[in-house]
Amino acid sequence: MAVALVLLLVAIAMDAVGTDATLPLHAHSSFPFNSPDRPLVRFSLPDTHNFSTLLLSDDHDTLYVGARDAVLSLNVSAGDVLTLKKKVSWRPTDSDVDVCRSKGKNATMECGNFVGVLQHLNASHVYACGSFAFNPRDAFLDADTLAMTRLPAARGRCPFSPWQRSAALVADGELFTAVMADFKGVTPLIARHFSKGGRPDVSQELSPILLEEADFVGSALDAAQRKVLFFFNEVAKEFNVRDEQHVARVASVCQDDVGGVQILQKKWTSLVKTTLRCLPPFAVLRDIVALPPPPEDGESAHTLFYAIFSSQWSLRPESAVCAFRLASLREAFAGPYRHFDAHTHLWSPLQAKSSDFGQCGLEGASHSKLEEVKRTFLTDGHVDPEQSRPLLVSTRHRYSRVAVMSVRAADGWSYQLLFLLTENGILHKVFLSLRGPRVIEEIAVLERGDHVTALALSASKGVAFVGSWGGVTAVPVARCSAHPSCGRCLLARDPLCGWSRSRKLCARLDQEPGQEECICGGGCQ
Ligand SMILES: *[C@@H]1O[C@H](CO)[C@@H](O)[C@H](O)[C@H]1NC(C)=O
Ligand SMILES: *[C@@H]1O[C@H](CO)[C@@H](O)[C@H](O)[C@H]1NC(C)=O
Repeated sequence: MAVALVLLLVAIAMDAVGTDATLPLHAHSSFPFNSPDRPLVRFSLPDTHNFSTLLLSDDHDTLYVGARDAVLSLNVSAGDVLTLKKKVSWRPTDSDVDVCRSKGKNATMECGNFVGVLQHLNASHVYACGSFAFNPRDAFLDADTLAMTRLPAARGRCPFSPWQRSAALVADGELFTAVMADFKGVTPLIARHFSKGGRPDVSQELSPILLEEADFVGSALDAAQRKVLFFFNEVAKEFNVRDEQHVARVASVCQDDVGGVQILQKKWTSLVKTTLRCLPPFAVLRDIVALPPPPEDGESAHTLFYAIFSSQWSLRPESAVCAFRLASLREAFAGPYRHFDAHTHLWSPLQAKSSDFGQCGLEGASHSKLEEVKRTFLTDGHVDPEQSRPLLVSTRHRYSRVAVMSVRAADGWSYQLLFLLTENGILHKVFLSLRGPRVIEEIAVLERGDHVTALALSASKGVAFVGSWGGVTAVPVARCSAHPSCGRCLLARDPLCGWSRSRKLCARLDQEPGQEECICGGGCQ
């Protein structure tokens, strides 16, 4: 064991030579689409398209898929075999489509029901919301049978437009959404629906000042602080510059906010926002995913968010990836804040740190306090990434989706593996080693002309699921068995693979019962 440890450390130290945060031009291994050396498993149906939303069941045996005019459940219990369990059709009527067309929309391209939201509502039901011919509808689906209970109205729960993204999250049976809530897609709204215990739904149509031309990207729950976080882009106004400058933000609301009494009735008293900064000019947030700390740590503040940024100005495909710690977000939300002057339309920093802004439990606060809260919601500071720099910068690829898993390597340490996906289906598996990022594999996962819409990773099954216009593709996270010899196995430098002495083959480390017998470092003698 000690020998293996030393060898691995040597290997990692050697990797570090000459690496910085800019990705090297070439991946260690590169696979064209449908290469026999890196097989993919594809699911598609002749009459179903625009697979846009993926949701794994808690046991990762079922994958729920939102598509155009349908919701499907796939059996993925074997990981890399995809079989259809159930499919329910959910299609607008001809008259719905006529109305949609009469409002100037393209009947074939835009007037379908594009299911953009799927969430686990409770142990027995899944929540779904679709654009439904530019007139959003939602439903509860039985998790086993997909039997559908349609709900009366869905305003503010998913977008009218199939082209817009929204964010949705269920916490304790209540649904939190951030969405452009009107036909034109210009009115951002952050809301709580299905509120429990008799408390009112809170639904705030954000004035143009609160959120400017927002584009919602994701959401996360800060369970320890009972707060919901929404990640989005907007046009910044606080710099008072002529150019429309896009910035990435995170907003926070309290899960239990019930609004004020005299003012801010059924509106958030806790809504605040701050800025996420990666590396200029990479300011536009494309995707974000949370990695909770390992169970033995358990300190929620150590949760890391991995985020992809692109540049608003760049015409080249390039992007940057930054990691943010939940502790840094909380710190930014602690203040200080800026104050909006409704007469001059200027933002000015408030000197003192205030304990009120963004806090929970303001429902009983005085009228004047809530007036103050109404005008003060943007922090003066911003959130810097871990180590104040990006994890990596790619000058060749504009990534659109990210997933992350922790790998316990043979040395006992945990490392992170990033899965970065471009819109046209180039998947990069990137090992974040101690001293720098390394692209272990580059895999083309889609046919030419297809388009990525979603990425879901099951670390326990060892499979990344890619949703696209044409179908769902399962990509095993590693293919250790492709390396025929000990030397090739170690040369692959894949932290998921090691050479098994007893079985004489290259095997997945996390699936190998007796890890001690694996050679995981530098030598095969
Ligand atoms: C749906 O898929 C088709 C290709 O099959 C594509 O042309 C179209 O843009 C997609 N629509 C949306 C809303 O993504
Ligand atoms: C889940 O929610 C649905 C819809 O409100 C309800 O009918 C069902 O009984 C709930 N199931 C559980 C296990 O709470």
